[in-house]
Amino acid sequence: MSRSSPVTFAREPHPAPTPPDRRAALLHDLAFGRTFTDHMVTIRYVEGRGWHDAKLAPRAPLAMDPASAVLHYSQQIFEGLKAYRTADGGAVMFRPLENARRFQRSAERLAMPVLPEATFVAALDELIKIDRAWVPDGDGSLYLRPFMFATEVFLGVKPSAEYLFIVIASPVGSYFKSKDAVALWVSQDFTRAAPDGTGAVKCGGNYAASLLAQLEGIKHGCDQVVFLDAVERRWVEELGGMNVFFVFDDGSMLTPPIGGTILPGITRASILTMAGDMGIPVREAPYSLEQWRADAASGRLKETFACGTAAVLTPIGTVKTRDGDFTIGNGGPGTRTEELRSALIDIQRCRAPDPHGWVHKVL
Ligand SMILES: Cc1ncc(COP(=O)(O)O)c(C=O)c1O
Repeated sequence: MSRSSPVTFAREPHPAPTPPDRRAALLHDLAFGRTFTDHMVTIRYVEGRGWHDAKLAPRAPLAMDPASAVLHYSQQIFEGLKAYRTADGGAVMFRPLENARRFQRSAERLAMPVLPEATFVAALDELIKIDRAWVPDGDGSLYLRPFMFATEVFLGVKPSAEYLFIVIASPVGSYFKSKDAVALWVSQDFTRAAPDGTGAVKCGGNYAASLLAQLEGIKHGCDQVVFLDAVERRWVEELGGMNVFFVFDDGSMLTPPIGGTILPGITRASILTMAGDMGIPVREAPYSLEQWRADAASGRLKETFACGTAAVLTPIGTVKTRDGDFTIGNGGPGTRTEELRSALIDIQRCRAPDPHGWVHKVL
């Protein structure tokens, strides 16, 4: 890929960035997604004119007309990826081109203009460079949130003629507070995505529609929700914000296939490749809730883990359903999950060779 972007960013550095001692205090106590860096990238799009007015400017509230299309019809998409501090003090991103491509697919599905891959990656590079002091050391990382929404002031239902693309960044610690295995609630009353709908892309509406199920899960003492397919209400699809893998007693793994209703996770794809490298047999095949329960009971199923940018690999210990709960393995983290998790983190943080060229150096 060419690293030059067709867009030139006007730089307006923050006149009063966060003082270093305040920043150090914020970086010391990281939650997920509550602290933000000093800058943001913005790029505008207008039909007939294309992408223009690319800026790197102080992060600030947006002024929006109340009739902006996104506020009514949710024409909005986003991405999520991380930058990591390396041992030499540099910073890298993990597979940003894959996020750029998924963002393009999301844009196409929502009838939005496609941002060139090189511009997407350049916007991330620019933000990381100017806010480089915000990339945490140690286990933390800088979560990058590119997003785009419809800004045309018009109440008719049609694709907007104007858009705003923004990137903000948030230094983060772990997504889950505990390092232990998490509990999942199986959503049997609500589905996430229907065939030919928007499940395979990253639009805000998918997440809005998952919140009630998430609340139901929390009411049952669970950390996350897992969704079943919308047709037979039987096949395990994915979590609200993560894909899922199953590990069996013969050492093999299984993950639900990408078929239009599941988000094609970049972590999922990376694990499939790594498993191939490590000689672990993996199948992309449907897996039912009944089978999951039966395999957990018989001991054939050893581990289940969730995976995604935010959660990395997170072990699942307990599954709760309206027909009763079941435990996977001993209910704690499993060895295969731990092994794959460390192998992935080592590549992401440049502590291991990167045979597939996944790491993108920024600094
Ligand atoms: C619904 C959903 N599934 C899976 C994932 C995992 O995707 P990735 O590994 O690209 O972060 C995410 C997170 O982006 C998600 O929101």
